[in-house]
Amino acid sequence: MENILEIKNLNLFFRGEESDYQALYDVNLDFEKGKLHSIVGESGCGKTMTVMSVIRLLPKKAYIKSGEILFNGENMLNLKEHEMRKIRGNKIALIPQDPMTSLNPLYTIGNQITEAIMAHNKVSKHQAMRKVREVMDMVKIPDINNKLNSYPHEFSGGMKQRVIIAMALACKPELIIADEPTTALDVTIQKQIMDLIQELQKELQTTIILISHDLALVSNYADTVNVMYSGRVTEKANSKEFFENPMHPYSAALINSLPSANAKGKLNTINGAPPNIREKISGCKFHLRCERFEKGLCDKEIPELREKSANHFAACFKI
Ligand SMILES: Nc1ncnc2c1ncn2[C@@H]1O[C@H](COP(=O)(O)OP(=O)(O)O)[C@@H](O)[C@H]1O
Ligand SMILES: [Mg+2]
Repeated sequence: MENILEIKNLNLFFRGEESDYQALYDVNLDFEKGKLHSIVGESGCGKTMTVMSVIRLLPKKAYIKSGEILFNGENMLNLKEHEMRKIRGNKIALIPQDPMTSLNPLYTIGNQITEAIMAHNKVSKHQAMRKVREVMDMVKIPDINNKLNSYPHEFSGGMKQRVIIAMALACKPELIIADEPTTALDVTIQKQIMDLIQELQKELQTTIILISHDLALVSNYADTVNVMYSGRVTEKANSKEFFENPMHPYSAALINSLPSANAKGKLNTINGAPPNIREKISGCKFHLRCERFEKGLCDKEIPELREKSANHFAACFKI
């Protein structure tokens, strides 16, 4: 078992007007080659900042204070911007959170995919155009001849997402990061796109990191689950183990609030909302919402992420 990507003790801060504030705390994550991994958690917990650290497309005010990001064993934090540019799109591709805005309305679909291919491969325009058909076929865009000359506004949301995936695949990346790739789509289309992503992942043996706030979706597609809360990893395990035996009270609460867990009509939701990251909270950041809260412990000490059973990690004193 080989890890394509390892994030070690990653600490990320934002420059603030009065003082800087921390958004990621000692994030440790491993991603085994050839699998479909997931990072889950409520909005604002640091999922996007974690993967943006990997490809180093961070907001201006964000900075990485310490940590390592090993891609095929090499610490990418030592790479210069021009070296990162060679990795982005080539070896690591991003399917962004808002794919609808990442297509240029002024150019045809065929043009944009051709550009994406030529930006990363030393190929002639003719070769690139052949490749365009190949990738459009892979993502099952029908009626390719016609679609090549269409503009983004002529495409439905699902079709636009297929184009984005085609562009991501064009350079045969080793790793694809999909940040909430189906959030903007309706449920039926969401399933089609996720089925496509899973199928391509199996066929091409690519590694995928899927970011989602939707645990139901993750349970259907991901091989591993990595849960984050307030900038920290709170639990990680393979998917089957995670859903059979969630350890962290936060994970248990997330699973409990799934519609399938509410079959008897009782709606379980997690009390309250995640804290603002600027808020200083001592101890475990989940203690304010936690059913297993122990005064004097959980509000004082920070629980480390520990291996509680084989390959199943959780950060909680009460397990
Ligand atoms: N551009 C930004 N400027 C300042 N703070 C930001 C910015 N983007 C994100 N953050 C902060 O970083 C935290 C993590 O954000 P993010 O990784 O986008 O969360 P997620 O993807 O899990 O919803 C958020 O709580 C937010 O307050
Ligand atoms: Mg996000």
